[in-house]
Amino acid sequence: MKVRKAVIPAAGLGTRMLPATKTVPKEMLPLVDKPALQYIIEEAAAAGIEDILVVTNRAKSAMDDYFDYYPELETRLLQAGKDRELHEVRHAADLANIFYVRQKETKGLGHAIWRAKRFVGDEPFAVLLGDDIMRSRTPVIGQLMAAAEKYDASAVGVQQVPLSAISKYCSLKVEPLEERIFRTTDMVEKPRPEQVFSNYAILGRYVLKPGIFDILENQAPGYGGEIQLTDGLGELCKRERMVAVDFEGRRYDTGNLKGFLEATIDFSLEHPETGEWLKEFLKEKAAAL
Ligand code: G1P
Repeated sequence: MKVRKAVIPAAGLGTRMLPATKTVPKEMLPLVDKPALQYIIEEAAAAGIEDILVVTNRAKSAMDDYFDYYPELETRLLQAGKDRELHEVRHAADLANIFYVRQKETKGLGHAIWRAKRFVGDEPFAVLLGDDIMRSRTPVIGQLMAAAEKYDASAVGVQQVPLSAISKYCSLKVEPLEERIFRTTDMVEKPRPEQVFSNYAILGRYVLKPGIFDILENQAPGYGGEIQLTDGLGELCKRERMVAVDFEGRRYDTGNLKGFLEATIDFSLEHPETGEWLKEFLKEKAAAL
């Protein structure tokens, strides 16, 4: 079961990061020196995915411009001997074959994924949510692909979240299969306390069988009046096998200000140009607090 395609829903309005996201897509906000979306595309490419569909909307054409060539800029960098910069701007455009489709109406995550039906066809595919940026030794989506292949199943990436926070996510009914892998047979989006199955929540990574599209096509709106992907998966896991992978890695929710700043600081500490400098700067700041 080879996964060759990925879908990145990036059609949200970015209301948790206003006012910056009024004109800059939240996926294009830089984490150190690269837009958030590039980290997601790099993760997919590192796991061997070749074709990526970004589900976008009318306010987000900066995304397709970024993953294109830019001959005037590249010529200037070449003439100026700025080899590193030239390599970086080219690299972004060469990561994968990137396709775009517009969601047209903001009707929820499930609806955005449904827009990928024609692109995906009849094969398993990966989904990576743009807000969830991962740091891991093995690409998180690759960990899910391995489990999906092993069990010939759909796979969702989960971690335990504090029970007090589960209502921000979804909650899964899970039975252990092996270390870090569960079978999941039910789930609920944004659970109320009496609906919680466990504190395992999906954190932005999925490998799905194409059967999800028939479900999403006829699905009624759920939480918040939106077509929820989790509702569709709740149905899919009753029809077909689905595993939940407690993935190894640190997840940053860059769709909110605090998560965005955590990622910015951690990535800057790892960055060769800023790491040492930032360490000293933070020490000075901490001493003065
Ligand atoms: C979405 C999903 C939810 C998931 C969360 C974190 O919620 O609907 O099931 O747990 O992402 O990846 P949102 O962050 O859009 O509210």
